[in-house]
Amino acid sequence: MYKALLLHIDRFLSDAEYGDALSRASPGKRVRLGRLRGHAAKQRALLGELLARAALTRWLRTPADEIIIKTDERGKPYLPDFPEAHFNVSHSGRYVAVATDTEPIGIDVEEIRPVKLSVADREFAPAERAYVFSKTTHQDRVHALFDIWTRKEAYVKREGGGIGVGFRSLDTLNMQGVYFHEISIVSGVTGHVCSSTRKAPVISKLSIFDMFEMYSSNKRGFRIEDT
Ligand SMILES: CC(C)(COP(=O)(O)OP(=O)(O)OC[C@H]1O[C@@H](n2cnc3c(N)ncnc32)[C@H](O)[C@@H]1OP(=O)(O)O)[C@@H](O)C(=O)NCCC(=O)NCCS
Repeated sequence: MYKALLLHIDRFLSDAEYGDALSRASPGKRVRLGRLRGHAAKQRALLGELLARAALTRWLRTPADEIIIKTDERGKPYLPDFPEAHFNVSHSGRYVAVATDTEPIGIDVEEIRPVKLSVADREFAPAERAYVFSKTTHQDRVHALFDIWTRKEAYVKREGGGIGVGFRSLDTLNMQGVYFHEISIVSGVTGHVCSSTRKAPVISKLSIFDMFEMYSSNKRGFRIEDT
């Protein structure tokens, strides 16, 4: 099922919720969280796994807590019990995104923030750079830069991190066999899903509350704190 969820972190998890969510996370995620520094980074990384489980529970007809998530040698998460089900996670600022599909998939979201346009000179293929500088205002160029950036990251993440060519020679405006679907459904945030599915995914925006509801939809039990 090709779909994408964009979670707005409208509030951070309380300590009790964080502890509860941590106890439900995969062992690998718990180890990686232990290495992370910073409250926001930990919350984003944990919410990424919760959102993935929320997205997968109905599709896989498996309670969210019982879905086994492992990571391959390059760090890409996968589902050992469901080789036909693929997903990918991304987070930036106050947003976390997940995409699911029956084919390998990559997703990248970025909160749009000030960036030097020289990134396009260093990292982008000629057609991608030309696209950025075809925009007339600085603001539109920054937006275009993040559009291309998220296409590149989504492609790399679909491939699992190993592309065999440099980022610069990766021309995401002229590719065969994969499709890029934009997920700019919120102002100030842009992103792409990279998939071999031509049709665009259904994209839904969720709050923390919505995510907990979806997580528990296959089995009651997640205690949501009153806010
Ligand atoms: C692995 C990589 C793709 C993650 O991208 P990112 O933008 O840093 O981070 P995102 O928030 O989009 O994605 C992080 C999630 O991707 C997933 N992920 C990790 N490794 C992955 C891999 N090899 N392949 C696919 N997905 C991966 C994980 O779910 C991870 O979540 P976690 O950190 O909470 O466990 C990134 O570190 C990387 O190597 N990017 C290429 C670097 C680059 O030079 N880009 C320039 C483009 S112009």
